Amino acid sequence: MHGSNFNDMENGIRHVAVIMDGNGRWATSRGLERIEGHYRGVEAVRHAINAALKAGIEYLTIYAFSKENWGRRKDEVNGLMELFCKTISLEVPSLIEKGVRVRFLCDRVGLSEDVVGSLDYCESKTGHCERMTLLVALNYGARDEIVSAVKAIAAKAAGGEVSPSDIDEKMLESCLYTAAIPDPDLIIRTSGEQRLSNFLLWQAAYSEFYFTPVLWPDFTEESFREALCEFGRRKRRFGKTE
Ligand code: FPP
Repeated sequence: MHGSNFNDMENGIRHVAVIMDGNGRWATSRGLERIEGHYRGVEAVRHAINAALKAGIEYLTIYAFSKENWGRRKDEVNGLMELFCKTISLEVPSLIEKGVRVRFLCDRVGLSEDVVGSLDYCESKTGHCERMTLLVALNYGARDEIVSAVKAIAAKAAGGEVSPSDIDEKMLESCLYTAAIPDPDLIIRTSGEQRLSNFLLWQAAYSEFYFTPVLWPDFTEESFREALCEFGRRKRRFGKTE
C-alpha cells in the first residue's frame, strides 16, 4: 500500500458500487478475444470483494450486464451468459466461506433458464451470510428499474391501495431492486470513461464518483484501497453547508 492504510479512509463508508469497464480493450490490446477480458474481469471481481471485506464495506455493487449490453455481438453476449452461469455457481463455496451474501439487481425476464437457475441457486445458498452483501446488477437498467417502480405504485393507486398524495421518495425507493439498501457512498468507474451509463440513477443522487484510467482486469486490491482513500479526502455536504 503506497503510504496509506485503512485508518486514512473515511469512516462510515457502507456501500461501494463499481462500473467494471475496459475488459474488451484489455483483451484486444493483447490480441485476445474480448471474452478473455471478461474472464480476467472475474479475477478483478475477486480482488474487489477481498478489498471490500478487509475495509469493512457492508455492500458492494458491481455492474455485470446492462440492458443495453444485449446490443453487443451475439458471440460476446453468449460468452458472457456462459461466464455468468459457470462463475456464479462455482464461486458459491468461496463466497459462503467469506461470509458474502449475493443478491442480483436483475430483470430475470429475457434471461435463459440456465442463467436464472444459477442466480437463484447463488442467492439461496448465500442468503444466510452476514459479513457483506454483494449486489450484482445483471440485465439491469436504472431507467427501467424506476419505470417498474412507478408501474407498481400506479397499480396500487388504480386499485385504491394508495392515494397519489401518499406517493413520496420513500415509497418509490421501496419499489426499487435496492429497497432497504443504503445508497452507494462511492461509485467507481474504470477505464477512463466518465459517465453513469444507466446505473443506479436514483440511488446515485449524493454518491461520490471516482474515475480511474485503469482497465477493469488490471484493477487490484490496491486500486480499490486507493479509491477508498480518495473518498476519505472528499467533503460530503449533501446540499447543506458544513
Ligand atoms: C465492460 O467492459 C464489462 C462488461 C460489460 C462485463 C463485466 C463482467 C464481468 C467483469 C464479469 C463479472 C462476473 C460475474 C460472475 C458477475 P467492456 O466490455 O465494455 O470493455 P470495453 O469498453 O473495453 O469494450
